[in-house]
Amino acid sequence: MLDRAKIEEVLQFAEKQVRHLVETYPDFFPIYTVKGKWYHSGELWTDWTGGFLAGMMWQFHRRTGSPYWLEKAIHYSRLLEHRKHDRNVHDLGFIFLNSYLPWYELTGDPALQEVLITAGRTLALRYQPKGKYLCSFIGPHSLFIDIMMNVPLIFYAAIHTGDQQLMEIATNHCRTTRDRLVRADGSTAHEGLFDVETGEFLGQSTHQGLSPESCWARGLAWSLYGFSKVYGLTGNPEFLEVAERNAHYWVLHLPEDKVPYWDFCADLTQPPPWGAQKETSSAAIAASGLLDLAKQTRVPERAIVYRSTALAMLEALTDPEYLAIQTPGWEGILKHAVYHTRKNLGVDESVMWGDFFFVEALTKLALEKPKD
Ligand code: GLY
Repeated sequence: MLDRAKIEEVLQFAEKQVRHLVETYPDFFPIYTVKGKWYHSGELWTDWTGGFLAGMMWQFHRRTGSPYWLEKAIHYSRLLEHRKHDRNVHDLGFIFLNSYLPWYELTGDPALQEVLITAGRTLALRYQPKGKYLCSFIGPHSLFIDIMMNVPLIFYAAIHTGDQQLMEIATNHCRTTRDRLVRADGSTAHEGLFDVETGEFLGQSTHQGLSPESCWARGLAWSLYGFSKVYGLTGNPEFLEVAERNAHYWVLHLPEDKVPYWDFCADLTQPPPWGAQKETSSAAIAASGLLDLAKQTRVPERAIVYRSTALAMLEALTDPEYLAIQTPGWEGILKHAVYHTRKNLGVDESVMWGDFFFVEALTKLALEKPKD
């Protein structure tokens, strides 16, 4: 049962794993493990996960007040500051909202908020006015569903500066994503392709999912949580509707054991990695998003479904099949995640964002006020 004692036990295990990581490989920002070890010479594909390591440290500090985690969180966040000018990635929200935002929220130091605003302005430079979207790192013709988790940084910058152009860019990006990548049944495509000259939409595509028409599990989780975050920042009901459409698909298609396979359209009669391959990071992301969505929805019955699904997924992830607690020498927290099947990167391994969102979701539960 996922009671407070169990949550605390699991979070203490997570702290142990992250402490081992930072003490074994100081100042190293890993993306995925190889045979359970963080340090390797494998390709990154793109450098997007630094905020998750710093973010876990901020989550640990929020829950425990530990000076060790505060010192580490500040140190690892500072190592990311230069990325505020990084125009090579579409991931500045992942990097800064999990590092500089909690730091700013703790201290109120305006210099920290300035870093967030600068990073938001940098991210907005990816805007393609003809197609009305922020382009992915692949190129100006490419829109990724993942960017829904980063666009909140532009909304944040818009809200805190009053810059209407930023607000328009962020709003247009969300609408284009909704119209081009989110399907009527709530499933999502990974990528949309556009004619750069005219802005015309050419079709759906994928890098990390099974096919252009399939529903890559992590993409759906990014969309669900991203639209929920954007609704939280703007109060715009258009975005709540999309998050709930995503949640409907998620809940309806989740396997009985509550841990999704890597793509909702994978042929489960086939072996991993293209068939019956579990993907724990998408469960962790969706669980954290569903905990928020349960508080946002205006339909009480849905709130119950969202929360109970999130709790069931988190409980499933605490089973030693998924949680590395009984796997000696394994350096990550959650096993059986997948980064990039086609490139054979981090397949059936631990991934930094899976560990982060698992810790984030459990910390949300740990910090809830006990009911009288
Ligand atoms: N590139 C983002 C992801 O793997 O979800």
